[in-house]
Amino acid sequence: MYRTHTNGQLRADDINKEVTLAGWVQKTRDKGFMIWVDLRDRYGITQLIFDEDRSPKPIMEAASALGREFVVQVTGTVIERESKNPNIPTGEIEILVKELTVLNASLTPPFTIENETDGGEDLRMKYRYLDIRREAVRENLVFRHKVTMAVRNYLSGKSFVEIETPYLIKSTPEGARDFVVPSRMNQGQFYALPQSPQTFKQLLMIGGMDKYFQIVKCFRDEDLRADRQPEFTQIDCEMAFVEQEDVLTTFEGLTRHLLKEINGVEVGKFPRMTFDEALRRYGNDKPDIRFGMEFGELNEVAQHRDFNIFNSAELVVGIAVPGGNSYSRKEIDKLVDWVRRPQIGAKGMVYVRCNEDGSFKSSVDKFYNQEDLAKWAGVTGAEPGDLICVLSGEIDKTRAQLSALRMELAERMGLRKADEFAPLWVVDFPLLEWDEETERYHAMHHPFTSPKPGQMELLETDPGKVKANAYDLVLNGNEIGGGSIRIHDKEIQSKMFDYLGFTPEEARAQFGFLMDAFEYGAPPHGGIAFGLDRLVAILGGQETIRDFIAFPKNNAGRDVMIDAPAPIDSEQLKELHIKLNF
Ligand code: AMO
Repeated sequence: MYRTHTNGQLRADDINKEVTLAGWVQKTRDKGFMIWVDLRDRYGITQLIFDEDRSPKPIMEAASALGREFVVQVTGTVIERESKNPNIPTGEIEILVKELTVLNASLTPPFTIENETDGGEDLRMKYRYLDIRREAVRENLVFRHKVTMAVRNYLSGKSFVEIETPYLIKSTPEGARDFVVPSRMNQGQFYALPQSPQTFKQLLMIGGMDKYFQIVKCFRDEDLRADRQPEFTQIDCEMAFVEQEDVLTTFEGLTRHLLKEINGVEVGKFPRMTFDEALRRYGNDKPDIRFGMEFGELNEVAQHRDFNIFNSAELVVGIAVPGGNSYSRKEIDKLVDWVRRPQIGAKGMVYVRCNEDGSFKSSVDKFYNQEDLAKWAGVTGAEPGDLICVLSGEIDKTRAQLSALRMELAERMGLRKADEFAPLWVVDFPLLEWDEETERYHAMHHPFTSPKPGQMELLETDPGKVKANAYDLVLNGNEIGGGSIRIHDKEIQSKMFDYLGFTPEEARAQFGFLMDAFEYGAPPHGGIAFGLDRLVAILGGQETIRDFIAFPKNNAGRDVMIDAPAPIDSEQLKELHIKLNF
């Protein structure tokens, strides 16, 4: 037996017990006549003591030769510690060691395996297995497991069945590029890795499995960000014989359950906001509603003077920053520089100081009088002591810029509290979205999403106005899930492909299997997929999903530990009938 206890287990009650422990040497303190070693495993740290008077000499010698991260096994007696450590659960005891076996030596690790490590991101990624020994990373992985288990249990309890779908498939259009896999046995042909199991879950509904879920890897070749990885995990779900309301209720139930089970937080009914309203009030389809600073549209009260920048703008919009009047001129100038950075792209920012005495001082006093500015304060909800920040220009861009400013200010003011949870549904997404590059409409969610009842006709006259039975679940300013009610009628589906610019031949070649299946009794159905990595990170009070993935990719999409992607040898290329052309 390698161990009788873990390193997080022993307490004062265990004093005088003879125990065997195993683990990694976290650190040693060698006073010559006495040596202390912190022994670590997944469960915690236990202090070992080697003592000239009480430990055999060869053991003293072996202990003084121990290096960091050596793997050892010790047998000894649990004794009371002289100086107790209230910061760790095993802090009242230590082990007086009688036997010591070095199970394996270790090179000196390239960074310290402590919560506050001296290793940079790249180094920790290269030696991820060492990083995983750090409590912070380990606990994130354990946390992820807990969330995953809670999801599985909850959905199983509601009669959902977890069914695996294939990874070697044909392209599924979720809006990103596919990762492709060449087929050796089918010369010149490629599988695509699923961007999601979308079409398969719909086929499962046609197969009668009316409540499906799967915790499943998805693959998308897209640019990376803190909340995006090229391979990530979805909690993918689908239900038959449901309307939008049924789907929302079911998955609101799951989310509420997780918040309670994992975070001990009870939340009431989730607010719902239409896509249009979210953009109007927050400039964003995934608003963080933990704090205010709602948008006030100022066109009516700001376009009647000689200020050309506002007069020529499609939208003039502002937010009231609580307490912002205390910012110095220099701080405000810095904010202006911030919104003018290329990543944000505003041309400038107008501001209004709301003085405690009820008067205003603005950067556009030349054009606007106190009465005008009072109206702006009314529209943005500004109080004395606040600062109103105003941006103007094209509607979409200006909203996005002000939304970025709102989030930045909230972050700086500590309003984005990690232990506060504000979920909401954003509903009534547009069915289509105009793509400047290809100059055509794309499905905003995916081509299987059904338009709202009665809106099919609008597709002919005003396609951009058509709303879909599509919804997103937003938590603390992050899109953690998205789904829709699907088309289950062959005619409507082929019309949709037609609108999206597929020729009938292309539609058949890519999705013939689905269209055929629709002819054999497809039930009405709909579903949703949660981004598990994002959900876990946010429930864990963070936003970087990498920290909750055991072996993530870096910002360039590389795994720096195994060094992938990598070239393959010419034999393999030949077998795959691939000739490199560069
Ligand atoms: P969607 O494309 O909205 O929907 O994806 C669902 C959720 O997956 C998460 N997500 C990601 N997480 C990490 N890295 C990525 N690259 C990434 N891309 C997406 C997001 C998102 O909300 N088949 C549909 C679902 C459906 O209609 O049922 C789909 O995949 O949290």
